[in-house]
Amino acid sequence: MSKFYRITSYISYWLDAINIHSLQAPFIYELYKNILVNNKNTSQYASIEKIREKFKASEHSIDVEDFGSGSQKNSNSRRRITDIASHGITKRKYSVIMEQMIRYMKCTNVLELGTSLGINALYLSLYRNCTVTTFEGSGSLANIANELLEDQRENVQVIEGNIDDTLPHFLEQSDKLDFVYFDANHRYNATLKYYDLCLRKSHNTTCFVFDDIHLTPEMEKAWIWIKNHYQVTLTIDLYQIGIVFINPDLSKQHYVLEL
Ligand SMILES: C[S@@+](CC[C@H](N)C(=O)[O-])C[C@H]1O[C@@H](n2cnc3c(N)ncnc32)[C@H](O)[C@@H]1O
Repeated sequence: MSKFYRITSYISYWLDAINIHSLQAPFIYELYKNILVNNKNTSQYASIEKIREKFKASEHSIDVEDFGSGSQKNSNSRRRITDIASHGITKRKYSVIMEQMIRYMKCTNVLELGTSLGINALYLSLYRNCTVTTFEGSGSLANIANELLEDQRENVQVIEGNIDDTLPHFLEQSDKLDFVYFDANHRYNATLKYYDLCLRKSHNTTCFVFDDIHLTPEMEKAWIWIKNHYQVTLTIDLYQIGIVFINPDLSKQHYVLEL
């Protein structure tokens, strides 16, 4: 069911996707040209990718607590690090897009829901003027991420525990959010609940990014709900991720873009 669903949802995306020649509005044109299709390569990205490769080559396994996150692979609690690094985390292309967006929009308060090994948090925290808070429920993954991030960055912290508990608590004490990446619990109710909580701390130029928007019918439904939310103006569907702006100065439009 899920493989078939992914194929049909990809075909549907591919049929709808447009490229830069069809874009006229300046904001989306600039974003697409400068960030989304601009495949930048820096030595910093290369050193993060070396760490990814090390994890991929690992022969270790760890126990991972299952939070009912809707993952389509490996619901067992014993997980091989190589499998997590190969299939369970954000691909370089999307991490680079987010890193570039944070820099371009000069985001200072960045959240990531779902840390895993901490690879994507390394990308998100490359822009030194931002503080990244990343949330992870699995103790063993949080330990790995903490070790990695402690060595590499001062502007990132891992909050361990179930996001259902840790996120509301964190938001009570936090300022406005500039950028949030939703990559933990890929369920309809959880996605909308976390979105609603973060929206309360948003401002006009806050950007939300949702992972796996077409993973399952449930995530597809959540994506449609978010696109139709009255505060949402511009959305960008890149198939793997969906980008959401709530800026009232942008006209309400939903783009499906080729990468
Ligand atoms: C897809 S992985 C995150 C990958 C990471 N963002 C990256 O790209 O490197 C999702 C993570 O979210 C965590 N997770 C899922 N549901 C959670 C919850 N309710 N509370 C805390 N963590 C959760 C899982 O343990 C898993 O490590």
